[in-house]
Amino acid sequence: MDHTMTPEEMAAGRAALMGGNVGGNFDLLVKEAHGSTIVDMNGKEYLDCTSQAWSMNIGFSHPKVIAAVQEQVTHYMHIRTSFETIPKLMLSKRLAEMAPGKLKKVSYCLHGGNAIEGAIKLAIRNNPGKSKFITFYDGYHGRTFTSMNMCWPHPNNGFVSYMNAPVRVPQAYCYRCPMGKTCGYPACGLQCANFLEDAVKNAVDGGPCALIMEPIQGNGGMIEYPKEFYKAVRDICDRNNMLLIWDEIQTAFGRPGTYFSSERYGVVPDVLVFGKALGGGFPIAGFLSNEDLQPLALGDQSFTFAHFPVSMAAANATLEVMEEEDICGQFREKGAYATKRLLAMKDKHDCIGDVRGPGLMIGVELVRSKETKEKFCEAEAYFVSEAFKRGVIVGGSKYAGLGNVVKLKPPAVITYKELDSVLDLYDELFTEIDKML
Ligand SMILES: Cc1ncc(COP(=O)(O)O)c(C=O)c1O
Repeated sequence: MDHTMTPEEMAAGRAALMGGNVGGNFDLLVKEAHGSTIVDMNGKEYLDCTSQAWSMNIGFSHPKVIAAVQEQVTHYMHIRTSFETIPKLMLSKRLAEMAPGKLKKVSYCLHGGNAIEGAIKLAIRNNPGKSKFITFYDGYHGRTFTSMNMCWPHPNNGFVSYMNAPVRVPQAYCYRCPMGKTCGYPACGLQCANFLEDAVKNAVDGGPCALIMEPIQGNGGMIEYPKEFYKAVRDICDRNNMLLIWDEIQTAFGRPGTYFSSERYGVVPDVLVFGKALGGGFPIAGFLSNEDLQPLALGDQSFTFAHFPVSMAAANATLEVMEEEDICGQFREKGAYATKRLLAMKDKHDCIGDVRGPGLMIGVELVRSKETKEKFCEAEAYFVSEAFKRGVIVGGSKYAGLGNVVKLKPPAVITYKELDSVLDLYDELFTEIDKML
């Protein structure tokens, strides 16, 4: 495609776009992107510390993904789900071999929200007569009708009458304990897990069908839970005959330093939903489920492009790159490096309340006072917009209940030099924010 347009044509294109998307309002017309860098039409470079919504773990325009896709399109592009293709069989074999425990059955689609809905359908198929779900405060699970309803209450959501609301319970967010405990973990005795079990027993007539949770809440503010919480949740699901669904759409394929969160927490869910990073920039999502579960029935989860061979070729190449370039190791090492620098900044800056998150899945919570922990939401907005002006794309947590967390989640391939320049800018912006206190 010819990438030139007159200003009038561009204005017409902009006027025609409806909006309604989730995402910041960045004034950036993209020319190209490589590694961790996006270049605009004027040649200005931006280091992307959002990885385009967690998707570009192996970096933009990886030559191996480009080659795999170029090769694939010379054979065929769209083949519907009724037929076999080598990219599909190869990817399914790979995922089943990699996945933890008994997660040996895989289902595909193109978007995370659709995959979450597939997991919901599977849970209902396996728990006939039950259709209530438990979710966590500040969770994020997508923007299809049902996945949207599984999130925190979306402001201005006029769609609720179409949906069956979940029961939302507090998550183990230790920096601001939702149970009001100030003693911290482990002294609290994981009261939030007890509350969860009470809700499972008392808040849902007939009992819930499943619990849906992100192992680490990304949009909710990069919240990782104490390791014992994951085990407690698994036990509660087992004791109460409900499935445990992990939304690993952000966490699967490397970002916290492991392929899947089971490696980190020693717990295997019944259903693991994936998306984003697997395609190396191409759309693909789906879920892995316990092979003992009753599978979905014919037509339950059917989408025209669900087994898109080009995305599957890209996903196969992405998995090869992950292994060859030790993407998990890069996330671990660069994450540890960045966290160390950010923790040193925490001691220095009054505006930093908390630094958290494994690998390159880091959140910095901005506060007006370390003692009162009052959220400093204006500081997040300032940080994101100033970083952008200075050539770094940063995401915040403005859509969830928080609004005061700035994130650091660049591709694993960011170089140490680039990471240092990003961290220098974070330091500079925290100094400016300190002055706003
Ligand atoms: C944790 C989580 N779940 C679900 C989704 C929905 O995925 P998609 O936007 O591909 O539908 C997202 C997307 O941001 C996500 O981060």
